[in-house]
Amino acid sequence: MTDQTKSPVTRPIVFSGAQPTGQLTIGNYFGALQHWVATQEANDCLFCIVDLHALTVRQNPAELRQRCLELAALYLACGLDPQRSILFIQSHVPAHTELAWLLNTFTQIGELERMTQFKDKAQRHKHNVNAGLFTYPVLMAADILLYGTHKVPVGEDQKQHLELTRDVAVRFNNLYGEVFQIPEPLIAAEGARVKDLQEPTKKMSKSAESELARVMILDPPKEILKKFKKAVTDSLAQIRFDEAGQPGVTNLLDLWCVATGRPRAEALEHFGHNLYGKLKVETAEAVIAQLEPVQQRYQALIDDRAELTKILEEGAARARARAEPVMRKTMSALGLPLDRGRFP
Ligand code: TYM
Repeated sequence: MTDQTKSPVTRPIVFSGAQPTGQLTIGNYFGALQHWVATQEANDCLFCIVDLHALTVRQNPAELRQRCLELAALYLACGLDPQRSILFIQSHVPAHTELAWLLNTFTQIGELERMTQFKDKAQRHKHNVNAGLFTYPVLMAADILLYGTHKVPVGEDQKQHLELTRDVAVRFNNLYGEVFQIPEPLIAAEGARVKDLQEPTKKMSKSAESELARVMILDPPKEILKKFKKAVTDSLAQIRFDEAGQPGVTNLLDLWCVATGRPRAEALEHFGHNLYGKLKVETAEAVIAQLEPVQQRYQALIDDRAELTKILEEGAARARARAEPVMRKTMSALGLPLDRGRFP
């Protein structure tokens, strides 16, 4: 008997997702995916490929479709298990956009204007500051609230969006009763803020201009080693955790800890020699050791389009069914007709 057959109400519900835009970085891996895999043990999990969120930036249609399949293969390669968790594509479950519209009417413009990711993206894509980019966090709130989610494992950069989700849910519940479960963010102590290797005060991002700035999960080992060797540090010749004073060194130390599973104190002891060259190479080696099995599994999975499609279709069917009760409760609370096409 698989876990899938157990009653979902007995375990906390976990929801998370990633955008199918380009390849994922080790920031996505250590900040999110690695934790998603671990949460499958004790929780009832849904993991989504958020293609609708990706549309806030212009996409090539064929590429977007291919990227969704690639991300599905990567989810599986990292250890997400379709027998235990629901893996699906956001646009396959129309309730996400329906609920997002309803939640838009409970979200204040001022709240959205304060979102640092909106401000940052609006700055970077000045030619296309579309309304979708602005209301992006509302769609995210819908993703989460639709499933009665208890916990949302994410990297630090999503914390503000989670706070908004909670605020909107509480506001709605205050008006209409306990319709939404109030979700908690799950942000790991380590790995939640992987930094750019060239500008270590910024988060590592898929869209960084310099390729040397980001390490992708699927980068060949030689490439990973090269990027770490070129990582920006400083001239203090001291290996210690000091995010403000030595962001580059601190990032490498954090990555070494998260990739080896060893604590900070051990890292300091291990790198007591203060040799930056060794820190870079050993961090690269630890990261490569984590990623190599993922890369091998990915290669085996990516060519089986039929199997990937089947997993995603089954996941979407399960997600659609799971979304129904909250959608009905929300519509009922607002006075919308429950049987679509029939009134009352
Ligand atoms: P996305 O696709 O940008 O990133 C996916 C996950 O990776 C985490 N992450 C990082 N963690 C640590 N260090 C980094 N440098 C780093 N970069 C990215 C992100 O925090 C995220 O957890 N809006 C979301 C996707 C989303 C979502 C949701 C997440 C849509 N709906 C509902 C949770 C719940 C996003 O763009 O993630």
